[in-house]
Amino acid sequence: MTAAGPSAQLLQLQLQLLLAAGCIHGYKPVVIIHGILDGPKQFTVLTSFITKVHPGTQVSVISLYNDLKSLKSLWVQVQNFRKAFQELMLKSPEGVHLLCFSQGGVICRALLSMIPDHNVDTFISLSAPLAGQYGDTDYLNPVFPKQLKKEVYLFCYNKLGQRWSICNYWNDPHHRSNYLRSNTFLPLLNAEKTHNLTTEWRKNFLQIKKLVLIGGPDDGVITPWQSSHFGFYDGGEAVVEMRNQEFYRNDTFGLKTLDARGGVSVCVQPGVKHTQWHQNFTVFQSCVEKWLT
Ligand SMILES: *[C@@H]1O[C@H](CO)[C@@H](O)[C@H](O)[C@H]1NC(C)=O
Ligand SMILES: *[C@@H]1O[C@H](CO)[C@@H](O)[C@H](O)[C@H]1NC(C)=O
Ligand SMILES: *[C@@H]1O[C@H](CO)[C@@H](O)[C@H](O)[C@H]1NC(C)=O
Repeated sequence: MTAAGPSAQLLQLQLQLLLAAGCIHGYKPVVIIHGILDGPKQFTVLTSFITKVHPGTQVSVISLYNDLKSLKSLWVQVQNFRKAFQELMLKSPEGVHLLCFSQGGVICRALLSMIPDHNVDTFISLSAPLAGQYGDTDYLNPVFPKQLKKEVYLFCYNKLGQRWSICNYWNDPHHRSNYLRSNTFLPLLNAEKTHNLTTEWRKNFLQIKKLVLIGGPDDGVITPWQSSHFGFYDGGEAVVEMRNQEFYRNDTFGLKTLDARGGVSVCVQPGVKHTQWHQNFTVFQSCVEKWLT
């Protein structure tokens, strides 16, 4: 009779261990980084998509530099996102997936290059200006003057301008040398300009297994929209696709290597406006769901 107590407890313990083991071998945690002028609030729908199709997935939306604070310099933001992300990462030795929207995609690119021992399995970039931005948009009207894109470089390509996040990825194809000289963020990240950490950053970035690039022609904010797939304008504003970009052909930050080993997946979806990417279940099903295992 007295033995029944302890053995029941033992059984329960064994069950708990089994359940815990199940979690460890279940879906990897997902870390989400928001875009410009938004924050975790805008990601409740996406979080519910994930937990609906993959119950039990731990989803964390990092709450930093929300809304207007998202306009701060990306160098400053990256430092603090890095701290928050590393904390989450260390709690998940099995690895995590990183899902980043819009400007958040550029921040995540930086994290993946700068964190030497990261354990990101799949990096999903949801309509992010990965090769830069050159275009006015209604979305940024509250903070950015419209119809002035030709002049923005004057504001952006100097020390003061570089204190604004948009300027850190503003890529004016008509002022390429100014971009390379005075943009202190994107040209370093994409190694269009080499620096003493280029090799190290490339090695770190290549630790991911998969890069998923999502975007489409009706986005309305990311300009050119192909920047979400590492395409960008040439000097005559014709779009040059990823594989013909110099940073790809020279493999400056590892993109070509990643692609050669089957690590790049591109998902183009028409009919999706910028703020809809993370709330559209068709997009989620077609481009995101299968990677979150
Ligand atoms: C790519 O390689 C060519 C030839 O080595 C070089 O002239 C050019 O500066 C490189 N470009 C980049 C972006 O690394
Ligand atoms: C890289 O250069 C920066 C300044 O440009 C310097 O502060 C840093 O110490 C250098 N790092 C290495 C590893 O040489
Ligand atoms: C959702 O995405 C599909 C493409 O995947 C698109 O056809 C549709 O218009 C989108 N709906 C909204 C409301 O964005």
